[in-house]
Amino acid sequence: MAKSAPPPGTSDIFPEEINQWYLLEDAARGTFPLYGYGELRTPVFEYTEVFQRGLGNETEVVQKEMYTFEDRGGRSLTLRPEGTAGVMRAMLNTDVMNGNEQRVFYIGPMFRGERPAAGRRRQFHQVGVENVGRMAPELDAECVAMLMHYLEAVGISDAKLMLNTRGVMEDRTPAEAALREYFAPHIAAMCDDCKARFEKNIWRILDCKVEQCQPVIDAAPEVVSFFSESSRNYFKRVCEILDSLNIAYQIEPRLVRGLDYYVHTVFEVVHSGLGAQTAIAGGGRYELYLPENKKPVIGVGFAAGLERLLMVREALQLPPPEDKTPVYFLVGMGERAIAFNMSLAIKMRKAGMRVVVEVENKSMKAQMRSANRVGACKSIICGDNELDKNTVVVKDMVSGDQQDVIVDDLIAFLRS
Ligand code: HAM
Repeated sequence: MAKSAPPPGTSDIFPEEINQWYLLEDAARGTFPLYGYGELRTPVFEYTEVFQRGLGNETEVVQKEMYTFEDRGGRSLTLRPEGTAGVMRAMLNTDVMNGNEQRVFYIGPMFRGERPAAGRRRQFHQVGVENVGRMAPELDAECVAMLMHYLEAVGISDAKLMLNTRGVMEDRTPAEAALREYFAPHIAAMCDDCKARFEKNIWRILDCKVEQCQPVIDAAPEVVSFFSESSRNYFKRVCEILDSLNIAYQIEPRLVRGLDYYVHTVFEVVHSGLGAQTAIAGGGRYELYLPENKKPVIGVGFAAGLERLLMVREALQLPPPEDKTPVYFLVGMGERAIAFNMSLAIKMRKAGMRVVVEVENKSMKAQMRSANRVGACKSIICGDNELDKNTVVVKDMVSGDQQDVIVDDLIAFLRS
């Protein structure tokens, strides 16, 4: 491994690539406030219990993927593997526990110790939203609508939305009993992960992608039929609202999602341009328990993976946004001219212009090469001669045309 490479599953994002990240982030900052959401920034690490209790101790993320460390004060801390648990911890400082609603969104890095692959990173980035404190199927539908709006805003309008219900906690016992009874005679022939899930979290068997397990899973009983009427009506209402908003979806009875906090509506958005990692976003309604809290925080939300959105944009051949701001290059012949250029550059920058100054006394030819390297549209040349006349020479880097301009007129001249 080269010393210059970052750790596996992480990447540097260089200035040449940053505009496409801005596009995704600007779209979030442009879209979510239209629905009444404000940006919340929480720490990138939390007390480990926030995730253990919040996501569920038996989840794969908590069991296998967390970056956990002890700080110098002996506290167990964990780099956030997702955004929801930390946001709920912060929400305890608001009035959400009294049924008042908070609408927040977040953008930032998340950390999971997964085996790195295309679209599967150890440090990845999410934009996410959480509508906290209230429960209504209409809010779930609005949340889904907002996700589809966001995807459209970043140029992705052909993604597939999959929807399911997980019912409420009380629905789980009869459904789990039915699954256990069904899978028991088949489990010996299923994959090792399924065997472990049979013991610890039988629902996750429904999510298994291993070929040999598919025929058995396909014939499993529909868990929804064991849910209460009120849970089924809740889901029906979510679907009705989505229909009335003309949002296309596919009900996917096997969609359970990997985190334990979900109740009622769950959803995932997939895109064929992604290869093996098909999910670009996922979310749902939740009841999330935090350490020391007997009552869960309730809400609905989603998160989308920015690396995966970029992969889809690439598969769709959407060009990365171009930065068309003109760059001016100040050429200085001699030390006096360089000092003059440095103060001229500050005046130009305060007028909103993008300026690079050559600070070394190099030959004209070398400075012109630098001007081309930074993509300057014009270079502005100053030497002793120009200083005496209080002028500069403006050279167009494409046509090569040159013109003397009085220093005080320069900004107006460049703007014209
Ligand atoms: P999640 O499905 O675990 O949900 O992650 C959401 C999205 O993050 C995924 O659809 C994927 O695009 C991206 N993602 C996840 N893991 C990786 C990885 N290792 N590398 C690259 N991208 C990845 C959550 O995180 C929930 N907190 C969503 C939520 C919010 N539910 C309710 N509110």
